[in-house]
Amino acid sequence: MKLIQKLGMALMLCIGVATVSVAADPLYDKARGTTPLLETTTPPVLGNAVNDDVRRTRNYAQQPPVIPHRIDGYQVDKNFNKCMDCHSRNKAEASQAVPVSITHYHDRDGNTLEQISTRRYYCVQCHVGQENVAPFVENKFQDVDSLLLKALQNSANALKKH
Ligand code: HEC
Ligand code: HEC
Repeated sequence: MKLIQKLGMALMLCIGVATVSVAADPLYDKARGTTPLLETTTPPVLGNAVNDDVRRTRNYAQQPPVIPHRIDGYQVDKNFNKCMDCHSRNKAEASQAVPVSITHYHDRDGNTLEQISTRRYYCVQCHVGQENVAPFVENKFQDVDSLLLKALQNSANALKKH
């Protein structure tokens, strides 16, 4: 065997060993734990949903705001939408809820409908209640305000140095 072939084989062997050791790392989904994929996990017991009625800051302009009140028992099906019982434009005065924005009345062709669009009918597709639990994964997201503040501080520091 030529030297180059021998070297090649040795290299392949190394790669093989490296791949095996990587695959052995216990990589698992933080939400479902180490339960194998084909088995069903025992879901954690539901806690006390946040119900403090304090509207939360949105992380970015297009974020669906999170729900600051409990929603259990609210019927949303083909017959009735309990959310719209408070959140529709004409119920806002009585309920003091934030009326859904105009985007909720747009169909996919951009027409504005008189009723909530079917695209926005199932509210909890996008809006979620909150629970006081530790996040599963670390989140390093920074909103635009903190980025702007950092940029300002950096340029102030740069000016000081001169
Ligand atoms: C009984 C009236 C009522 C019902 C029913 C209701 N809400 Fe609300 N909602 C409110 C009020 C009032 C607020 C304003 C903050 C507060 O008081 O909790 C609010 C706030 C919100 C907000 C925050 C808006 C923002 O700009 O921060 C969202 C999102 C929301 N509700 C979604 C829903 C969804 C989804 C449902 C149905 C599953 C629902 N609500 C059912 C009264 C209601
Ligand atoms: C497909 C995703 C989606 C669905 C479904 C949806 N929303 Fe929204 N919602 C959003 C987004 C995105 C925003 C923020 C930008 C905007 O107004 O479009 C928002 C904004 C809101 C706001 C704040 C309005 C404002 O002017 O500050 C309320 C209240 C709300 N939604 C309630 C509801 C309710 C109640 C339903 C069900 C009838 C619903 N949404 C269904 C995505 C959705």
